[in-house]
Amino acid sequence: MNARPAQPSDAAAIAAIYNQGIEERIATFETRLRIPDDIQAWLGGRHPVVVVEDEGQIVAFAATSLYRPRECYAGIAEFSIYVARARRRKGYGRAAMDALCEAAERAGFWKLVSRVFPENAASRAMLKSLGFREVGVYRRHGKVDGRWRDAVIVEKLLGEGAA
Ligand SMILES: CC(C)(COP(=O)(O)OP(=O)(O)OC[C@H]1O[C@@H](n2cnc3c(N)ncnc32)[C@H](O)[C@@H]1OP(=O)(O)O)[C@@H](O)C(=O)NCCC(=O)NCCS
Repeated sequence: MNARPAQPSDAAAIAAIYNQGIEERIATFETRLRIPDDIQAWLGGRHPVVVVEDEGQIVAFAATSLYRPRECYAGIAEFSIYVARARRRKGYGRAAMDALCEAAERAGFWKLVSRVFPENAASRAMLKSLGFREVGVYRRHGKVDGRWRDAVIVEKLLGEGAA
């Protein structure tokens, strides 16, 4: 298993893994499936995108993205993490998040945040084991397929934020 920064040629594999997660409705409010060009737009900027590969196949990715545009929040990033459905519970998610936290710290971020659906036990357990704190629960934070969903807010301090 090898975690590394994503390259443009990884875009199709990342889109396929993300689309599995979108279709499952357990991980995200997103319902629009992505194409590789959507993923290309994530690459080459301030936000790290990492992939985990095993025997030459991309099995997971993790990425940060803009939290808020205000300058005072410049050190905070949102994150996403997805593992190919058939490859879960083999340590790839942890490897992707470890690599993302390191890359985000190197890029100067002091905190990662996200929101997790309360019923997403796998994500909540993984994030807790990686030192993420559950801050609280947003009630009725959005709808998926017409149904209200709550969201657990998670955060982890990095770099100077953790010092
Ligand atoms: C959540 C997710 C990223 C975890 O990745 P993974 O590669 O399956 O997890 P790992 O094998 O690295 O497991 C790390 C730890 O997480 C916990 N964990 C993972 N899957 C779990 C499950 N199904 N039930 C309970 N705990 C689980 C365990 O503590 C595990 O450590 P252990 O295997 O030593 O007990 C993966 O299930 C996934 O892609 N889910 C769909 C997308 C998603 O929910 N993304 C997160 C959105 S917030």
